[in-house]
Parts: sequence; C-alpha cells; structure tokens
Amino acid sequence: MSDDALTAVQYGVGPIGSRIVEAAHRREYEFVGAVDVDPEKVGRDLGDVASVGETLGVTVTDESSEALATDPDVVFHSTVSSVRDAKPQLEEAISRGANVVSTTEELAYPWWSNPDVAEALDATARNHGVSVLGTGINPGFVMDAMPAVLSTPMESVESVTVTRVQDAAGRRAPLQRKVGAGLAPDRFESEIATSAGHVGSTESVAMLADALEVSLEEVSESIEPVIAETTVETDHTTVEAGAVAGIRQTAHGYDENGDVVVTLDLQLSVGAEEPRDHVDFDGVPDVTVTVDGGFHGDVCTSALVANVAPSVVDAPAGLRCMTDVPVPSVTARGDR
Ligand SMILES: NC(=O)c1ccc[n+]([C@@H]2O[C@H](COP(=O)([O-])OP(=O)(O)OC[C@H]3O[C@@H](n4cnc5c(N)ncnc54)[C@H](OP(=O)(O)O)[C@@H]3O)[C@@H](O)[C@H]2O)c1
Repeated sequence: MSDDALTAVQYGVGPIGSRIVEAAHRREYEFVGAVDVDPEKVGRDLGDVASVGETLGVTVTDESSEALATDPDVVFHSTVSSVRDAKPQLEEAISRGANVVSTTEELAYPWWSNPDVAEALDATARNHGVSVLGTGINPGFVMDAMPAVLSTPMESVESVTVTRVQDAAGRRAPLQRKVGAGLAPDRFESEIATSAGHVGSTESVAMLADALEVSLEEVSESIEPVIAETTVETDHTTVEAGAVAGIRQTAHGYDENGDVVVTLDLQLSVGAEEPRDHVDFDGVPDVTVTVDGGFHGDVCTSALVANVAPSVVDAPAGLRCMTDVPVPSVTARGDR
C-alpha cells in the first residue's frame, strides 16, 4: 500500500513519541489523533507538543477513546516498557481496528517472557484483522533483527555475540543518573543494579534464537558497573576516575545442550571508548560487522517506527515481530 495514505494516532508524546511524530510527518502520514496523560501536553496541538515546527490540527487528549474514534490505519504507541502495563492500551487500539507499532520493549518478542500476554494480544489482533509490532533500535533492531538479517547469506551459525557500546556523556541527565554515572562503586549494587537495567535483552535473545532456529532452553542476564579510568566531565556531572561511569549488561541464551548460542553485551557509560554496534558470528563463514559510532537510540527508534508502519499495515493479522515483517528501508530523502 502507499504509505502516503496512512492515517495515524500518536499514543504517548514523550521524547520518543515526539520524534515518531516528526519522522512520520516527514513521510507524509496524516495524524488524526494524539493521546497523552501528561497535563502539560493535554489540550495542545500535537505539532506544538512534538516540536515539528508547524501545527498539525490535532489536539492532544487524555481520553484514548476520543483519539481512537478517528479510526486510524495505525497507532504509534510509546508510553511504557512493560508489556503487561501496555496491554490495556494496546487492546483498546486493536479493538478499534487499528494496526499498532509500539516501542514497548517487552512487546518486541513477548512469546518467551510473557507468553500469556503474547497469546492474548495475538488473539485480539486476529479477531480484529489487524497486526501489532513491538520495535525500536534496541530491542527491535541492533541486537536481534539486524544480526538475523546478517545471517541470511551464511551456511550455518554456531554462535553469535552482539556488542553495543554507547557513550552516555552526550545523553540526557536522567539517563546519566539512571546508569549511576558518578556514584561510588560500593553504592552501585544497592542503588543502581536493581533498577538500571535495560529492558528488552531477554526479548532480543529470544527473537534472535528463534530466527536462528535455536531451541532456546534458558536466558541469563547480569549487570555490573563500568568504572571510569579517567575523570570525565559531562554537561550534567563530573565522574571522577574510580567512580561508576555506567553499566554493562550481559545476556546469554543457551540451547538444549547448555551451550551459549547468543551473547548480548550492552555497555552504556560516560566516556565509553569506541562507541559501536558490533556483530560477531562464529559459523560458516565467520562474519564480523561493525557499525562505527553505533545507531543513535532515539533518532533511529523513531525512524524505524515510521519506516516499518506500511509493512505492519500490510502484514497478516496478529502479533508480529521484526523478523517476520518484510524488512523496511528508508524512503525519505534529505531536504524534505
Ligand atoms: N525499543 C526501543 O529501542 C526503545 C527506544 C527508546 C524508547 N523506548 C521506550 O519507549 C517508551 C517511550 O519512551 P519515552 O522516552 O518517550 O518515555 P517517557 O519519557 O516516559 O514518555 C512517555 C509519555 O507517555 C505518557 N504516558 C504514560 N502512560 C500513558 C498512558 N497510559 N496513556 C497515555 N500517555 C501515557 C507519559 O506521560 P507522563 O510523563 O505523565 O507519565 C509521557 O508523556 C519507553 O517505554 C521507552 O523505554 C524503546
């Protein structure tokens, strides 16, 4: 179908939702509604809230039923990370006959960790003849869909390791606090380790294992501090040498023989050297791919959401994941 014809509702107009509006507007999708519970946003024009540089003639409401009554082709959903918390929001959109593209991390591949929610959403989507996809840069691309695509010309895969190193120095202050930047190492365990973890690693392991046709038996995850070797100044804080610079989160996927088949290594710290996305296959042939600098978390999540929407609208009804919708590509050129 022509993506120019898509009508859309934006559900959640935070930093990511705002960027999705911008990316979708650039692709000439037509916004017909917008939902957010933040009183600062309710009652304002979507173009103003999302800072797209012009009004869009759509008022942000905190009544989801009002926005969804516009019968959009697609709902762009970007509110929460937990699929259980998102479920009522998703079900309402699906029941209104809208396809959904969501950045809820656990929706990227819920069949492993939340099979009951996956089954319920799939059934509702099939009943209403629409499709639902969880996506974003991570989970949704760098550590799952991208390596799955890279395995396409390989004869066989023994194991794969994906490493994502991001420098948190240029990111927002809440993110730097979230990864513990500047904390004394002895405070990491009690203050950061239990809450700082990236959501979606387990989902990425399970999606990638499924794509590689590995019978996944177990997924383990661990989180540890990255310690600053030198003093790092950011716009928001100073991290002395020896203090916590950020987090390193590792996830392993094991097959039925107890062998590690998928390893995901995510490092998010201020002053991280050589930021990159790196995929390393042990197989026939061995394959190594590095994206220097790495894909930008916010820019690329919103672009991906907008670019994949036509594939989701055209997909068979049900709950989908990034490895079973046609791989989208950018269509917008610069200077538009
Ligand atoms: N997969 C990926 O690669 C990826 C990448 C980036 C972000 N994400 C995820 O995408 C989501 C959105 O990111 P963000 O940074 O924009 O988050 P955010 O700053 O929390 O913004 C979410 C917005 O949605 C609103 N909201 C929350 N619950 C709502 C509800 N039930 N109905 C309507 N509006 C609601 C929030 O209002 P209040 O502020 O008043 O609660 C806020 O305005 C997060 O869960 C984030 O973790 C995923």
